Amino acid sequence: MAMQIVSSNAAMQRLARKWQRAGTRIGFVPTMGYLHAGHLSLVKRARQLVGRRGRVVLSIYVNPTQFGPEEDFSKYPRDLKRDLQLCRAQGVDAVFVPRDAEMYPGKTEGRYSTYVIEEGLSRGMESVTRPGHFRGVTTVVAKLFNLVQPDVAVFGAKDWQQAAVVRRMVQDLNFPIRIITAPTLREPDGLAMSSRNKYLKGDLRRQATVLWRVIQFVRSTARKSPKPVPAVRLKVQLKRLIESEAAARLDYIEFFRPDDLVPVRQVGLGAHMALAVFIGKTRLIDNASV
Ligand code: PAJ
Repeated sequence: MAMQIVSSNAAMQRLARKWQRAGTRIGFVPTMGYLHAGHLSLVKRARQLVGRRGRVVLSIYVNPTQFGPEEDFSKYPRDLKRDLQLCRAQGVDAVFVPRDAEMYPGKTEGRYSTYVIEEGLSRGMESVTRPGHFRGVTTVVAKLFNLVQPDVAVFGAKDWQQAAVVRRMVQDLNFPIRIITAPTLREPDGLAMSSRNKYLKGDLRRQATVLWRVIQFVRSTARKSPKPVPAVRLKVQLKRLIESEAAARLDYIEFFRPDDLVPVRQVGLGAHMALAVFIGKTRLIDNASV
């Protein structure tokens, strides 16, 4: 069957309800487009989850409400034609490309006024530098869930805090949706795949591998140490390691319990770590279990 491209909210909801009535399972992968192998791995996972007779929907929407006023919303990379080709090759059944005017009608005139706010897991880490970011994410994901009506939705471990916040929202607001987290895909040199890697020109691309080097350093330190290592001590060492790269500036590095994101003071195996680093003007994030 040919891949469907849906751009109106009503048409998406109609299609989803038709599938639901026929007992067809819907797997969903929300994205902001400029697709890479990491996104496509989520599509593969969604396909495995719903089977050959299920339907896989991928959405492409650069959601304005999750970007801060100084952030890269207007220059976020976009290439719809290429994205659609990749989706077709991957066997996606429908690509949903919502329009701003329908997602947030009258937003600038104050005629859009409903937001979903998660008040626990979304505090800290990403929120410190990006206040309001998760409010935008939970709002758009809730809207997309209502439009696509999936049985299962797949998120990347690459955005660990985002996946935790979405899981909590689904639990708290009783969305009848299973949330699956799929592993982070990396370039051969360890850099996590990201649409924003496009911004990394020349030597910045090499410097960006410092995030992965930091993760490896923490893992080997924790493995070699007979007892857990104090987080404060590690943070000092890691900041030095990161800022030995000329264009790198540490935003945050945290050690925490993987499920509820509660910080740990002693870092041992089983702890999770996440970091955000500016490489020039590009802000990169990564995370891994220690
Ligand atoms: P975006 O950054 O396009 O990412 C879409 C999905 O792909 C997210 O679940 C993200 O975690 C996953 N992903 C990104 N890079 C990955 C990688 N290297 N390996 C595996 N998965 C990866 O995250 C968003 O969009 C938005 O916030 C969104 C959820 C769509 C809401 O607007």
